[in-house]
Amino acid sequence: MKRIFVVFLVTLVVSLISDHRLAEGTTGLYHSYENLPCGDCHSLHGSGNSSAGQAPLLHKNNIADLCLSCHMKGNETPTTADLPSVKDSGWLAPIVMTLDGVDPSGIAMPSGDFYWANNDPKKGHNPAYTKGAATSQLMKADAILGSNPPGGSLNEGGWSCNSCHGIHDRFGADVSAWRQVLRKINGVCVTGDVSGYGVETTNGDCIQNQNYEPVKSNSRGDLQGVGYITARKDGNPLESADLFADESDTNKNTYRGGFSSLCSACHGNFHGGNSETRNASNNNTRSGGSWIRHPANIKMNETRSNYGISTYTAVITNKQGTNPNPVGYDWKYPLVQPDNNFMVKSKAASVNDLSTAIGDSRIMCLTCHKAHATKYDNMTRWDTGTHSFIANGATDFTGAVSNGDNPAYGCGKCHQKGGTKAYVKTF
Ligand code: HEC
Ligand code: HEC
Ligand code: HEC
Ligand code: HEC
Ligand code: HEC
Ligand code: HEC
Repeated sequence: MKRIFVVFLVTLVVSLISDHRLAEGTTGLYHSYENLPCGDCHSLHGSGNSSAGQAPLLHKNNIADLCLSCHMKGNETPTTADLPSVKDSGWLAPIVMTLDGVDPSGIAMPSGDFYWANNDPKKGHNPAYTKGAATSQLMKADAILGSNPPGGSLNEGGWSCNSCHGIHDRFGADVSAWRQVLRKINGVCVTGDVSGYGVETTNGDCIQNQNYEPVKSNSRGDLQGVGYITARKDGNPLESADLFADESDTNKNTYRGGFSSLCSACHGNFHGGNSETRNASNNNTRSGGSWIRHPANIKMNETRSNYGISTYTAVITNKQGTNPNPVGYDWKYPLVQPDNNFMVKSKAASVNDLSTAIGDSRIMCLTCHKAHATKYDNMTRWDTGTHSFIANGATDFTGAVSNGDNPAYGCGKCHQKGGTKAYVKTF
């Protein structure tokens, strides 16, 4: 009897844990059906200066201002949202911009903080222009670059949050299941139908363009039958960091697929295309047998490469007797995971796990950059204007304290040009 009861309890607990299925209407995702009162954003009779066809009947004519009405620190709840009327209660919007550049505790901002770009446009994207509307009040425009992406051009008129993100869906025909990123950016299909990769079942409107590898990570879940599951279509767990917890080794974004392609919709010259290799010479990053731009999609175990997964995980010798460079996948320098390898997981630690340092993983734009803005010029993850070395006890770019002298830092993560022994010379 007792045994049967224990079995029952175990079954109950297991079924509770594994039951990702949520009843329809309780997905808790704001940008979708059940949580999307149109009037939160649209004003049907009183939008005043909305110019016809451009910003359709919105409470704020500038789209960045509309988005930041909920996604800026201080505005992230229904009672504090900077909008005239918000119908639902209980939600909390993930913030993308703080008021002081201080990373709030208990919040992950994996794309960085627009505060920095707003403070100094060199430090990130400044999507401040909506076609037919005044420049954003909350987001300063980039006085030098305007809406001209280096290495490409933006052809749609306007440069705003909706240049990259969809508005009305959690995911669907025009919105991918990764952070509501559009399938078609700047007129190019960066991510179309990805059902063949075990991602979401919703087919995209985009016809796959061979030159653009689709995003194959999923942060949103899937619709199956009449149910909504918070997992990938192939049953693997979601690959996203929980935005309402600190970012860490056990709460990180896991990247799969075309994260370099996505950026190249606007910065085409910076990308060498799919499956970049050090042998090809007919692309944007390699010419005449040498790199002309840093590789952005090359495999970490590329044949004949001098740098790769073994330098990424190099063992460091220092006088503290520690090895401060992780032996496994390091979330501080994210790499694109192979399509079918799920060793690196968002919610499981990987820095001490050798099996997560995968040679077929690839370096990408987001290995060095964040998607929105950082406190460093050119929105790089670390200060590329400083040494590729961090001393024992010093704080790294994520705020963590180094447990030993470490030359595997910044660019040195993959290129320990002074070697793997950390000597500190006193001048
Ligand atoms: C009325 C408030 C409100 C407005 C206005 C709003 N959002 Fe959101 N947004 C939310 C809430 C709440 C969530 C969290 C629930 C969810 O993921 O749907 C969210 C989620 C998101 C996410 C997904 C984050 C994740 O978990 O992956 C993105 C991306 C996003 N919003 C972008 C935008 C953009 C772009 C705009 C402007 C066009 C915008 N939002 C306007 C409230 C708002
Ligand atoms: C999070 C804010 C937000 C919510 C909520 C919202 N919209 Fe929108 N909507 C926008 C923005 C911003 C645009 C302008 C999009 C653009 O031009 O890219 C827009 C554009 C539109 C358009 C014209 C262009 C198009 O995409 O067809 C229609 C129609 C529309 N919305 C209807 C609705 C309806 C109906 C609802 C409720 C089910 C709704 N919207 C909810 C922000 C919102
Ligand atoms: C250049 C394209 C681009 C623009 C412009 C952009 N985003 Fe994003 N955003 C992204 C990408 C790509 C991600 C996912 C990045 C990742 O996974 O590392 C993202 C992530 C997010 C997230 C999830 C939280 C996070 O920090 O990752 C939210 C919310 C969001 N964006 C809202 C916005 C809002 C609001 C704006 C306008 C103020 C905006 N975005 C402008 C590309 C963009
Ligand atoms: C929809 C077009 C678009 C996409 C997609 C896009 N960018 Fe940009 N990017 C721009 C524009 C426009 C500028 C120049 C204006 C600005 O900085 O706001 C820019 C500027 C930059 C800069 C220089 C920043 C500065 O102000 O000096 C960097 C670095 C950059 N982008 C990296 C990226 C990365 C990495 C991605 C992929 C996550 C990406 N971009 C995706 C349009 C885009
Ligand atoms: C995540 C690992 C990684 C990081 C971080 C990284 N690189 Fe690289 N780098 C590579 C790989 C892989 C190659 C290709 C090597 C090859 O083809 O032999 C490369 C190539 C290069 C080359 C060309 C080498 C050659 O032999 O032609 C230079 C120069 C370079 N990187 C500089 C930098 C700088 C500067 C930084 C910091 C801003 C940096 N790298 C950050 C992985 C990385
Ligand atoms: C190895 C690290 C690394 C990778 C990978 C990388 N970048 Fe950069 N990027 C940098 C650094 C560092 C800068 C600062 C300027 C410089 O040193 O050239 C920069 C500058 C830029 C700029 C501004 C250039 C200008 O003229 O103002 C853009 C745009 C940009 N990167 C886009 C991209 C895109 C798109 C990708 C992926 C296809 C990418 N980067 C991959 C490190 C990297």
